[in-house]
Amino acid sequence: MQFTVKAKLQRAMAIFSFLTPVFAAVICILIVMIVQRKRKTKGGGSERKDSIKEPRPWVDEDLQDNTDILTEAGKDDWQDEEEENLQHIPFTGMRYPEKEMVSRSKEFYELLNQRRSVRFISAEPVPREVINNIIRVAGTSPSGAHTEPWTFVVVEDPETKHRIREIIEEEEEINYCKRMGDKWVNDLKRLRTNWVKEYLDTAPFLILIFKQVYGLHSSNKKKTHYYNEISVSIACGILLAAIQNVGLVTVTTTPLNCGPRLRVLLERPVNEKLLMLLPIGYPSKDATVPDLQRKPLEDIMVVV
Ligand SMILES: Cc1cc2nc3c(=O)[nH]c(=O)nc-3n(C[C@H](O)[C@H](O)[C@H](O)COP(=O)(O)O)c2cc1C
Repeated sequence: MQFTVKAKLQRAMAIFSFLTPVFAAVICILIVMIVQRKRKTKGGGSERKDSIKEPRPWVDEDLQDNTDILTEAGKDDWQDEEEENLQHIPFTGMRYPEKEMVSRSKEFYELLNQRRSVRFISAEPVPREVINNIIRVAGTSPSGAHTEPWTFVVVEDPETKHRIREIIEEEEEINYCKRMGDKWVNDLKRLRTNWVKEYLDTAPFLILIFKQVYGLHSSNKKKTHYYNEISVSIACGILLAAIQNVGLVTVTTTPLNCGPRLRVLLERPVNEKLLMLLPIGYPSKDATVPDLQRKPLEDIMVVV
């Protein structure tokens, strides 16, 4: 009996003494792996700080021209004292009888249903006051935290309009011929658009709408412009409705890859990025539009 216990003990010790160097080696490998991983995360941390920015869902990554990469919005925000002590006042809104509501909603639909993107615009002059008023209307748009992150640049100088045309046609020719590929070109075929944009010279006014990706105070402090892309897009929608309301025409354009050059041409600051360009005027006498149909209510509305 004693012999068996002793033998077992001896065998266990033999195994243990054999395994000890193996254990030691495994533990060493584990330690090395842990240290290496720690070093990696430490070293990569600074790299990641640059490449992974704070999540900012109000920024549309597609439309960035990299001018906002230098800023860490929120870091040096300024806030006016007035803003902090903002008073709340009674709301005074309109209220219509139901019947009138129905007729107004129908009339407004009929007005906006006539809106079309018109790419043939006459040179006939348009009163400047009308332009001021429709931009006033656009400025009534809601905006994230009431930051009003928009700049409407009105161009009426023929030379500047022509320079804008040159820049856009140059970039658009590359878009159509090289940059955008067959699918994009084919999808646009039925609209009969190309890189020649005569309306940029003929329209009496061009309105270039810039989104301010952050606010810039005279003290060089910055202010976060929450959801600036959505806010400015809503303002543009309201502007389109205002243009329709006065019987003028436009075509919504988003000149691809032209933003930075147009920003420099128009001497806009780095916190502004071109979102849209609207040529405005009367339609030319021979203007045509593609015979597009709009989806009926059943196809665009879901009632839950
Ligand atoms: C975001 C956006 C970008 C557009 N970009 C252009 C453009 O760069 N050039 C153009 O000729 N039309 C452009 N359009 C106009 C569309 O082609 C047009 O709205 C569409 O064909 C429907 O026609 P409608 O506006 O007459 O209803 C754009 C429209 C939107 C909403």
